[in-house]
Amino acid sequence: MSKFKKVVLAYSGGLDTSISIQWLLENRAEEVIAVAVDLGQKEDLEAVRQKALKVGASQAFVIDARKEFVENFVWPSLKANATYEFNYPLATAIGRPLIAKVLNDIALKTNADCIAHGCTAKGNDQVRFEVSWQALNPNLTVIAPPREWGELCDRGKAIDYADKHGIPISSTKKSPYSIDLNLWGRSVECGVLEDPWVEPPEDAYALTNPVETTPNEAKYIEIEFREGVPIKLDGVEYNAIELIEELNSISGLHGIGRIDQIENRLVGIKSREVYEAPAATVLLKAHKEIEYLVNTKDTVHFKQTIDQKYSELIYNGLWFSPLREALDGFIEKTQRRVNGTIKLKLFKGNCVVVGRKSENALYNLELATYDEGDEFDHSAAPGFIKIFGLGVKTFYQSQSISQ
Ligand code: ARG
Repeated sequence: MSKFKKVVLAYSGGLDTSISIQWLLENRAEEVIAVAVDLGQKEDLEAVRQKALKVGASQAFVIDARKEFVENFVWPSLKANATYEFNYPLATAIGRPLIAKVLNDIALKTNADCIAHGCTAKGNDQVRFEVSWQALNPNLTVIAPPREWGELCDRGKAIDYADKHGIPISSTKKSPYSIDLNLWGRSVECGVLEDPWVEPPEDAYALTNPVETTPNEAKYIEIEFREGVPIKLDGVEYNAIELIEELNSISGLHGIGRIDQIENRLVGIKSREVYEAPAATVLLKAHKEIEYLVNTKDTVHFKQTIDQKYSELIYNGLWFSPLREALDGFIEKTQRRVNGTIKLKLFKGNCVVVGRKSENALYNLELATYDEGDEFDHSAAPGFIKIFGLGVKTFYQSQSISQ
C-alpha cells in the first residue's frame, strides 16, 4: 500500500493516539501532523504537543477552541435543552464536530492529503468525525488506525508496542477507564463499568464529590439569562468559559451531575456510560425553567419535540447538516424572550429550582391567584368546559361499539 504524504491526526496524548503516530509512520504515512484541540480539558497541552513530537510527529499544534466551543456549540445545545435519552448532556458529542472543523482547517493549511483519528470501530465518535468531514471537505481521505491495526486493539499488546517504540504511557496505563473531558462534561467508559450491575467506583469520578462528603449546608445560586444564554452568576458578569468553570466547581462540590445510564449507541450497541456534568446539569435545569416562565404553552410543548430531534442530531454526528441549521432558526426565535433569573438550591447531589423571575414572564398573578385581586372570569369556565368536552360526550352517548 502506498503511503500518504501528510496525515493530520487528531491527537490527545493518550495511548491510542500516541501509538497511532508510530503505526501511521510505519504503515500509512510519510509524515504525521498532530493536532490537540483545547476544549477546556484542563490538561498540560504543551506537554501533549511535546509528546507528539517525541513520538514522531513532524509538526504538532495545540489549538485553543474553548471560546468557539462554548459560543457556537455548547450554547446552541443549551438553547435546545439537549440531552441524549433524557440524561446525557452530550459533552463528548458536541465537541466532535468542532474538533473535526479545526482539523480540517489545519489539513487545508498544511496541504495534507489525509486526515486520521484514533476512534474505535464500535463507538459514536468515529461517525461524528467522519460525517463532519464529509460535510466540510468531501474530498478528504480519512483513516482510523485503531480500526485497522488488528492485534493492537488488545490493550496489553498496545502497551507492549508502545514500550517497544519508546512511547511514554505511564499515566494512561494507570487509568482503567477510557475518559473524554471538556468544559461541558466528562465521559467515562470501560473497565469495571462494563458490568451494568456494578456501582461505579469512586475513582471513576473526578469533577464531583460523593454525596457522603458534600457540605451539610445548602448552597443557593442565581443564574441570569439573556436570550437563552447565561451571563451572570449571583449578579456577577462572567465570560462564558469562566461561568461554566465556576459552575462546574460549585456544583461538583455539592455532588451534582453524576449520571449512570445504559445508552443506545448509533452503531446498535447498548453500552453502560458514566458521566459527570455539574455545570451542564444546573444550566440545563435553569434554562428549561426560564423557558416555562416566558414562552407560551404551545411554544414550550412544540419545542420539546424540536429539542429531542436536535439532541439526536448532535448524538448521531449530524451537527453539520441542513436540518440542524433549520432547527436553529426555530430555536433562535424562541430564545428572544428567554431573559431573567433562576434561583437554585444545590444540596447533597440535588439541584432544585426554587425561584424564577423575568421581565418577560407570562405568569400573571391576577389570573393565577386564589386570593384577593383575582381577575380570572369564573363565569366563563362552565361554557368553556361544555364545548371542550363536547366530543367525548357525544362519543360516550352514542350507541355505537366503542373503538
Ligand atoms: N458514549 C458517549 C458518546 O458517544 C461518550 C463517548 C466517550 N468517549 C470516550 N473516549 N470515552 O458521546
